[in-house]
Amino acid sequence: MQTLHTLAELRAALPQPRSCAFVPTMGNLHEGHLSLVRQARAHGLPVVASIFVNRLQFAPHEDFDRYPRTLARDCELLQAAGCDIVFAPDEAELYPEPQTFKVLPDPALADILEGHFRPGFFTGVATVVMKLFGAVQPRVAVFGKKDYQQLMVIRCMTAQFALPITIEAGETCRAASGLALSSRNGYLSDSEREKATELARALGTLAKRYRSESTPLVELEAQALDGLRAAGWQPDYLTIRRRSDLTVPASAAEALVALGAARLGATRLIDNLES
Ligand code: PAF
Repeated sequence: MQTLHTLAELRAALPQPRSCAFVPTMGNLHEGHLSLVRQARAHGLPVVASIFVNRLQFAPHEDFDRYPRTLARDCELLQAAGCDIVFAPDEAELYPEPQTFKVLPDPALADILEGHFRPGFFTGVATVVMKLFGAVQPRVAVFGKKDYQQLMVIRCMTAQFALPITIEAGETCRAASGLALSSRNGYLSDSEREKATELARALGTLAKRYRSESTPLVELEAQALDGLRAAGWQPDYLTIRRRSDLTVPASAAEALVALGAARLGATRLIDNLES
């Protein structure tokens, strides 16, 4: 496996466009990321993983500075998972000057849910992913369903800009407890980690109730939020949306996804369940 830090090295290693499968990450890798790498490998192309903590997608009060940077361990894990090239640029390499050109995703998709609580987040994500796509020029890119809205933003961006890249979704990996694997789980204390399973359970209960009860969705959502608050969480949202475009469903007969974000102590967790 090669570890490359500059765009010039990457270009030299990948002279042909559309010749690799790509997994973009911010590092601090766990089994969820490695499963995306294995999925990428199934295409029979060289696999490139990027590791870059993207300042553009963090608000000033968020955890950019303390986001774990574990490059040496990440590289070992990637090598064991069969990755061929790690692209780990530093900030000056990817942003040699202020990034004044940005990708502005459709507000109907990007200003709701995560985007409502993290204004500008998806602009930061779309901008860096566009830049990484330009650098890596992959044929396939794999994004986890754990960041469900992000996956949809990237899919729409890729389609609307006619990028010749197939976007693939990877399933969320969960601990035996049901907790979705996330780099931010590392911020949790042992007792918080146990408690963190309540988020997925709340989403499961909300989805089940929406399918089986006639109570209006807004009431079910309010009750789910109250339940988490009573359990000591500070939830941002718990909701049921259409899988196709994340709009509010008209009935439980549609293909749905339950999505939620909530703070447990100092840690903000997100999760979702297709239902
Ligand atoms: O999902 C992530 O880790 C990041 O948002 C991504 C896609 C690597 C862009 O920085």
